[in-house]
Amino acid sequence: MIEVNICIGSACHLKGSYDIIRDLQYIIDEEGLEQKVVLKGAFCLGRCTKAVSLLLDDGEVVSVDRNGARNFFETYVRPKLLIVTERKLG
Ligand code: FES
Repeated sequence: MIEVNICIGSACHLKGSYDIIRDLQYIIDEEGLEQKVVLKGAFCLGRCTKAVSLLLDDGEVVSVDRNGARNFFETYVRPKLLIVTERKLG
């Protein structure tokens, strides 16, 4: 299971946390990934001056603007899905 924590602290909320949550949830639903990717809310991740902060389960924090959910997914989540799939096959 890949966990993505989206900051819903006040600064990130104003910059579009909920737009990102909505768009990531759409991708997860569209691709039937409910058993592979989980979204969770997080509070301030310490990068309030940047775009919305997302924390990956490996500890990496990524700043994503409100229209950047698809790009974030393809750049950071999709490769992890492929690794998980390869591990199951191997
Ligand atoms: S409120 Fe999101 S990083 Fe601070």
